[in-house]
Amino acid sequence: MKTLLIEKPKDHILLVTLNRPEVRNAINIDMMHELLNLWEGLKQNPDNIRCVVLTGTGDKAFCAGADLKARHNITLEEWRKQHNVLQKAMIAMHDCPIPIIAAVNGAAFGGGLELTLGSDFAYAAETAMFSQSEVKVGLMPGALGTQNLPRACGIRRAKELTFTGEIFSAQQALEWKIVNKVCNPQSLVYEALETAEKISENAPLAVLQAKCSLNVSQHSDIKSGYVFEVEAYNTLLPTHDRVEGIKAFNEKRKPVFHGK
Ligand code: COA
Repeated sequence: MKTLLIEKPKDHILLVTLNRPEVRNAINIDMMHELLNLWEGLKQNPDNIRCVVLTGTGDKAFCAGADLKARHNITLEEWRKQHNVLQKAMIAMHDCPIPIIAAVNGAAFGGGLELTLGSDFAYAAETAMFSQSEVKVGLMPGALGTQNLPRACGIRRAKELTFTGEIFSAQQALEWKIVNKVCNPQSLVYEALETAEKISENAPLAVLQAKCSLNVSQHSDIKSGYVFEVEAYNTLLPTHDRVEGIKAFNEKRKPVFHGK
């Protein structure tokens, strides 16, 4: 891959690093395609991966949003073509059945904040900075930002952040529920990997179905959401992992899950 560094630091865990440090890991067309392929690939063939940690190269930026140099002077047609790939990548990220944790190691501006919000949850280095900055360059969020930001921090805070484009700190992101934890920059990825490991020790199909059901809760009334939850729950009953989980409890040992 040209723009993503992909490692498997532990069994079942993928560490994906946005890797264009010369432009603060900004998203160009190659990165859009590679992110799209990554999320779609994980959906079609998880290949034993049970959790993804997404971070950026260096200590300056997680992701500086769209590559504004690459977009300088491109035609409207080319812009729309590129944005279409980004849209597909964001939907594929949303539809990715595997949990995604963002480890925000520096600036998360524009599309960088949208990638943070597109993850299932995020940890941030105490030095990280955030901004929904698109209005400062004549744009608005276009990678699910107006949908995911209010779901994270509430509509009134989301409006304030989006209309002003103001920079906010990791501590504020924590207070506003945009990130779940603020970490020492040196231990950020380690802490995200530790959480990924805890997730990957659980029954994979159970985690996947729970993720689906939690996502449904964000756009359904409680009773329709509950219909979905019960269906998802029922798919787990015939699984080997459900049998193993209950058996291991009764035998007072740690269960061994195979995702079957
Ligand atoms: N697209 C393309 N290049 C970018 C970029 C982007 N979104 N963000 C930063 N870069 C480039 C800079 O132009 C600079 O390149 P140069 O050395 O050739 O001049 C290099 O990355 C370093 O940027 P710099 O601003 O010096 O780094 P910093 O660590 O001081 O600040 C940011 C990092 C992310 C806070 C800052 O670069 C920034 O505000 N970027 C723009 C973010 C933005 O508005 N995104 C929204 C897009 S809609």
